[in-house]
Amino acid sequence: MNINENYKNLNESYLFSTIAKKVSDFASNNPDTEIIKLGIGDVTLPLCNAVIEAMHFAVDEMSRKETFKGYGPEQGYDFLKSAIQNYYKSHNVSLELNEIFISDGAKSDLGNILDLFAKDNTVLVPDPVYPVYVDTNVMSGRKIVFADANEENDFLPLPDEKIKADLIYICSPNNPTGAVYNREQLKKWVDYALENKAIILFDSAYESFIDGKNLPRSIYEIENAEKCAIEFCSFSKTAGFTGTRCGYTVVPTELIFGGMSLNKMWLRRQTTKFNGVPYIVQKGAAAVFTDEGQKQIHENLNYYKRNAKIIGDTLDKLNIKYTGGKNSPYIWLKCPNNMNSWAFFDLLLTKIGVVGTPGAGFGKNGDNWFRLTSFNTNENTQKAMERFFDLFK
Ligand code: MLT
Repeated sequence: MNINENYKNLNESYLFSTIAKKVSDFASNNPDTEIIKLGIGDVTLPLCNAVIEAMHFAVDEMSRKETFKGYGPEQGYDFLKSAIQNYYKSHNVSLELNEIFISDGAKSDLGNILDLFAKDNTVLVPDPVYPVYVDTNVMSGRKIVFADANEENDFLPLPDEKIKADLIYICSPNNPTGAVYNREQLKKWVDYALENKAIILFDSAYESFIDGKNLPRSIYEIENAEKCAIEFCSFSKTAGFTGTRCGYTVVPTELIFGGMSLNKMWLRRQTTKFNGVPYIVQKGAAAVFTDEGQKQIHENLNYYKRNAKIIGDTLDKLNIKYTGGKNSPYIWLKCPNNMNSWAFFDLLLTKIGVVGTPGAGFGKNGDNWFRLTSFNTNENTQKAMERFFDLFK
C-alpha cells in the first residue's frame, strides 16, 4: 500500500484547528481571562423562527407513516431547488432545476468538485485565500499559482494574461479580505476563463451581506458565465446553518469540456458518493426563502452588520487601515506598527483576550494583516473593540 504522499506537503493542521488549539491552551492556562472570539466565521444567533417552524413540521412528518421520508434525491428535493431557482430569478439569473445541487455546505463541495478535473490542471488562487482552496488541491497534487491580492489592487486581483490557469477560484465578497468584485471586474475574469477554456469556481457564500443591487451576488449575473463557471453557496452565513449544514452548488448544463457535461459528471459523482441532505434540514433551508424567512434572516444579517460597523468605527478612530466590513462580515485590517500577524494574534489574545485570525494563515500577502469577524454578539463585539481601542489608543 502506498499512501498519498501529497499530504506531506500540507501544514500539520488546518488553520482554524491550529487557532482553536492555541486558544484552548491559553484558556486552560488563564481561566480568569474572559475570551471573546472574533476568529472563525461562526454565527452566534439561533436559527430564525420560520426555519425552526418548518423543521418542527418536518420532524412531525417523519413521525407518521404516511409522511415519513427515507432516502431523498441525492441532488436535493425539488421544493428547495425551486426556492433557490426563484431566489436567483429575483436577481435576473435564470437556472434550470437540474443545474442546482443541494449539499451539506460549500466547503465539502469545493473540495469534492475536484473529482471532476484531471490532476495535471493548473489552479489559480488569489493570495490571501480561504485555505480550503489551497489545501484540497495540495492533497491531490495539483500545481497551484497565486494571484497577488494586496493593498495596491484593493485585494481584488484581475487576470494576468501571462498566467495560464485551468481552474480559477474566486470568492466575492471575499474571505478573508471582505473585498467585493464589481461587474466590470468579474467580466474580466469571465472573459479570461472563456479565452483560456478554464473553469471559474465561484464561492458566493457571503452574497447575502451585499447591500443593494449594484454589486453582483452571483457570477451568473455576468454574461456568458454559464459557459465557464460553477457557483458554490451556503446557508451557513446567510441563515445561521453552520451547525445545521446545508448549501448548494450550481453546475450549468452548458459546461461541456472534453466532450463531457460537467453537470452530468457532478450528478454521477453525487449519486455515487453522497446520499443527500436530511429532509428536515432541507425543509428548514426552503423556509429561508419565504417572505417571513427573508424578513427574519435580514434582521439577523443586520445584527451582524452592526457588529461590522462597531469594528470599522473603532479602526477608523485609531487610523488603522482595513478593507471589508461593508457588504461582508469580515474586516481585514493592517496590523499596527507593521506587526507580523501571528505576533499580533498572540498580542490580542494575551493582552485583551480577543481572538482573531492571522492574515498569514491565508497566504503570504496576509503576513501583516489580520481578520476579525462580525459574527459574535453585539455586546461581545462592543466589549472586544473597547479593549482593542484601549490597547492601541
Ligand atoms: C472562516 O472563518 O473562514 C469560515 O468560517 C470557514 C468556513 O466557512 O469554513
